[in-house]
Amino acid sequence: TSKLGILLSGRGSNFLAIADSIANDQLKGCEIAVVISNKADAPGLAAAQERGLKAVAIEARGRKRAEHDEEIVATLRAHGVDLVCLAGYMRLLSPEFVQAFPQRILNIHPSLLPAFPGLDAQQQAFDYGVQVAGCTVHFVDEQLDHGVIVLQKTVTILEGDDAHALSERVLEQEHIAYSEAIARVVSGQYTIEGRRYIKR
Ligand code: GAR
Repeated sequence: TSKLGILLSGRGSNFLAIADSIANDQLKGCEIAVVISNKADAPGLAAAQERGLKAVAIEARGRKRAEHDEEIVATLRAHGVDLVCLAGYMRLLSPEFVQAFPQRILNIHPSLLPAFPGLDAQQQAFDYGVQVAGCTVHFVDEQLDHGVIVLQKTVTILEGDDAHALSERVLEQEHIAYSEAIARVVSGQYTIEGRRYIKR
């Protein structure tokens, strides 16, 4: 079994979707070894605890990024994590963190990258006037919202839409996309050529 380490900062709906697909056997061969939040009061962390998962708060409070990330990496290692899943984790990773898990860190982002990296991606997309939005699961590299794309799902803008309604439909797709992407990665049935993820 692949041991997943989940990092989150807030609500944790993507984490819960992953936990549900493991529980109902849609996502096979995985277990969640630890859930880590940089916010002690993140609802996602409480939800992890309620489910009996190992849940750890590691706050940054004035510490240097490298130092904070070192503690996170040590915690992931202590739990034998082999795939790190960022699920609404709203901090940049230090280069040392990224290098500690080469091509073993996934992130989900609520836009069709490379469009609209950064914060409030759905609002950015809506304000730009896109007609197709979506989400991306990608490997994390040292640049923001930039690594190799594993999977994307599209969401069509509807008449009378607003950014909030769009975000909700994107989120539904995120919940499907993340487990699919994890299944792909843990299967090992792929190669990466340059920026391209190629299914074998
Ligand atoms: C999700 O929409 C996720 O894609 C986004 O934050 C939300 C977290 O929701 N992540 C980013 O914007 C990362 N740049 P959740 O806590 O309910 O999973």
